[in-house]
Amino acid sequence: MPRVAVHEAELNVVKQGEGPVLLLVHGFPLDHTMWLGQIAWLAETHRVIAPDLRGFGASTVTPGLVTMQRLADDLAEMLAALNIAEPVTLCGLSMGGYVAWQFALRHRSRLAKLILCDTRAVADNAETAANRIGLANRVQREGPAFIAETMLPKLFGPAALAAQAPFVEATRQVILKSDPRGIAAASRGMAQRPDMTARLAEIDVPALVLCGEHDPISPSGEMQGFAAALPNAQFVEIAGAGHMAPLEKPAEVNAAIAAFLA
Ligand code: MLT
Repeated sequence: MPRVAVHEAELNVVKQGEGPVLLLVHGFPLDHTMWLGQIAWLAETHRVIAPDLRGFGASTVTPGLVTMQRLADDLAEMLAALNIAEPVTLCGLSMGGYVAWQFALRHRSRLAKLILCDTRAVADNAETAANRIGLANRVQREGPAFIAETMLPKLFGPAALAAQAPFVEATRQVILKSDPRGIAAASRGMAQRPDMTARLAEIDVPALVLCGEHDPISPSGEMQGFAAALPNAQFVEIAGAGHMAPLEKPAEVNAAIAAFLA
């Protein structure tokens, strides 16, 4: 897999297919493999690019603090390094959505369409932000096992958990293998991410807002609320899925994305 140089880091980047560019941006604390249900299928019609963000997967780790703005700038620098000048569709899940907002504000000329999966527009409240700092400090002391235990029940819907779906175990392994310094840096970055609520009217590209029915992290009602505040958005709920709708219900998610991109 090619490595692409960005500001003081290298990103591990999966590329597949030809056509309009579709950039898939993973959530926390995961890597590009959360899109395995999408990459090959969408690559039939699109040039799919799925990086590991700075600090995750096989990309370079930057210890300390990595902001959502930095991660968005990494994506723009990656596109430039790949000689991609055309505006792209950016599809981000959860933390990938926080990055997508910053990409839309900072790199508008590079953006054609947005897909916001299981993500939020609001900033953290004081308690959530403090918990993220606590998590950052703890993961550096103990490693990521406690995150796998606490997060998996929130990431997946009841059906996937009850069936012990293979992707649940695969996700556990991704979390366990993540570099604690990368997790900590992104957690600190999420804690200080800007609130997007007052800026939604500026995000005027066509947008698909997609949410798993049972997502407790970015609930459907909240996502419908920000979809309504975006100038040009449609909302789709994925029945039976949790926060990780693309892994849990790939056929339904792919169909929604294909209909939006058609
Ligand atoms: C994610 O899936 O990226 C995280 O749940 C985001 C968050 O913790 O806010």
